[in-house]
Amino acid sequence: MNKLNKKDIVERILGKQLFEPARFKGVGVAPSNIALCKYWGKRNNDLNLPTTGSLSISLGERGAKTQIQPIDDDSDEIWVNTEKYPLESAFSQNLISCLDLFRKNQKQCYKIETDINIPIGAGLASSACGFAAFIKALDHLYGWELEIAKLSILARLCSGSACRSLWHGFVEWKMGIEDDGMDSHGFPLEYRWPELRVGLLIVNSKQKGVSSRVAMQRSVESSPFYRVWPTLHQKDFLQLKTAIQDKDFLIFGEVAESNAIAMHALMLTSRPPIVYSDSETIILMQKIWEQRALGLPIFFTQDAGPNLKLLFLEKDIEAVSRIFPKMVIIAPFEHQELS
Ligand code: PMV
Repeated sequence: MNKLNKKDIVERILGKQLFEPARFKGVGVAPSNIALCKYWGKRNNDLNLPTTGSLSISLGERGAKTQIQPIDDDSDEIWVNTEKYPLESAFSQNLISCLDLFRKNQKQCYKIETDINIPIGAGLASSACGFAAFIKALDHLYGWELEIAKLSILARLCSGSACRSLWHGFVEWKMGIEDDGMDSHGFPLEYRWPELRVGLLIVNSKQKGVSSRVAMQRSVESSPFYRVWPTLHQKDFLQLKTAIQDKDFLIFGEVAESNAIAMHALMLTSRPPIVYSDSETIILMQKIWEQRALGLPIFFTQDAGPNLKLLFLEKDIEAVSRIFPKMVIIAPFEHQELS
């Protein structure tokens, strides 16, 4: 059997859907999401099918709003936060290869305008919300009215973690077992935790040097510890889900932090090694551990960038803000509309 590619999956999902715009401009919004139990490694590189499931929390009003319209021109136009983005940039290239999956007429060009209220390419899931908002904008432009699980699959084809950005709150991405990945998409968890806070500690908002795509592939291929990842992950995943259900913050924070550290250990033991942390990142981690030893329940998670996301409860806002005055505080269950 020939291996399925992204275009085959798009065709399966859209079938005979029309590519006649239903309106002048399509609009989509999506929150950013931070994984608490990470996605790191694929069983199918082309379709972004993961080797494990993952679990995330969406960042409320932090995310992306994307507008797309067909234009009568001979190249696409990409705008980010009201600035025209160079088409050669990594962000534009990724967006254009995703757009190409949906371009029925190869000559048809588009203007895509995205407003993102988090730093781009710095491990703050800007690509996740960007691609989820983009897929929703396409659905709106063409009036497909696809069910949300299908939008999640399409978003996954653009960037794995984007499949979790279709919902607010806690979201699980089931790895699925099918070759075509039709069972590998996000779905929302019913649990709410209004007291939960996420603090963004921006160490550096420069674009990362190694993409997460390259880094995860290198970990799969060369870290001697990658083989233990699925087993460890499964244990973390179950513990984390129970902690969310029971609102057991200490277990919740401990598991999320340790899962992130394990993911970075895979990168560090890859050949050549990948290190996303800056020296400032390590200083912050030590500060967090010191404070924890003094009794403050505060944990962190880290993605493919030097920035940390703190996890703490509403009751500790004052104490945590005193230690990290520059932190941006997000209440994931409070503001569930993008501004
Ligand atoms: O979706 P990608 O290819 O940007 O990979 C995301 C990887 C992590 O953010 C590090 C983990 C995750 O589950 O989001």
